[in-house]
Amino acid sequence: MDVWLQWAMGPLFWTAMAFMVLGLVRHVGLTVWGSFRAYRRAGDKRFPVGKLVGSTLHWLVPVGKVRNRGFFSLTTVLFHAGVILVPLFLAGHIQLWRAGVGITWPALPNGVATTLTWVVIATAFALVVQRAGAKDSRALSRFQDYALPLLIVIPFLTGFLVMHPAWNPFGRDPVLLVHVLSADLLIFLVPLTKLSHMILMPFTQLVSELAWHFPEDAGSRVGVTLGKENEPI
Ligand code: HEM
Repeated sequence: MDVWLQWAMGPLFWTAMAFMVLGLVRHVGLTVWGSFRAYRRAGDKRFPVGKLVGSTLHWLVPVGKVRNRGFFSLTTVLFHAGVILVPLFLAGHIQLWRAGVGITWPALPNGVATTLTWVVIATAFALVVQRAGAKDSRALSRFQDYALPLLIVIPFLTGFLVMHPAWNPFGRDPVLLVHVLSADLLIFLVPLTKLSHMILMPFTQLVSELAWHFPEDAGSRVGVTLGKENEPI
């Protein structure tokens, strides 16, 4: 078991981290390059920069959305708070970083981390139920929309069991192994799934604005594609 744990916490973890970082850098590179090309070809090069920055910030902190679908918005804000804060600021994790690479930063009190852990577990299930229960969300959903929140529950639940042995009906090591393997899998999946929105989210407003700035000859090219180049627009 020791060998498996060392492998999962060592080589596998670092491979997953490298894969995630390189994958996200690639996503950003392709998005910036695509935006630059779209801007160069755009017929109308005027951009409402202030409005774009405003709507980007608005979507990064979606407080206004809480008014529209209150319960869903609250669930997703709480879910994101726990998913971001616990892995990054758990004292046990920071200790591993200090032991591994010598860096350290302030930690959340363990009690707060445990509360957030339960918040994530509860909100992950709530998100899946709310998605499946709403007709419009269900129609737009893919397999990963249901699978990812449930997969995210695994490292949170197993992490809780590792930190609270009185609740753990299994041995510490097998649960820790499942914890680290599920976390490694999630890290691998970041650039391959919608989890990549963690880095692409700030670009979405820019990209959708650019998408409406068609190249000057776009109309005639659509006409040619449809075989209607001689018809009046
Ligand atoms: C997606 C990434 C991860 C998430 C979401 C996550 C989440 C958690 C949670 C929720 C806890 C328990 C917190 C509590 O109940 O207060 C925990 C504990 C722990 N995690 Fe993770 N974890 C992740 C990645 C990792 C990785 C990659 C490792 C090892 C390389 C690791 C090692 C540990 C250890 C050793 C503990 C117990 C800490 C202690 O006993 O003080 N975790 N984790």
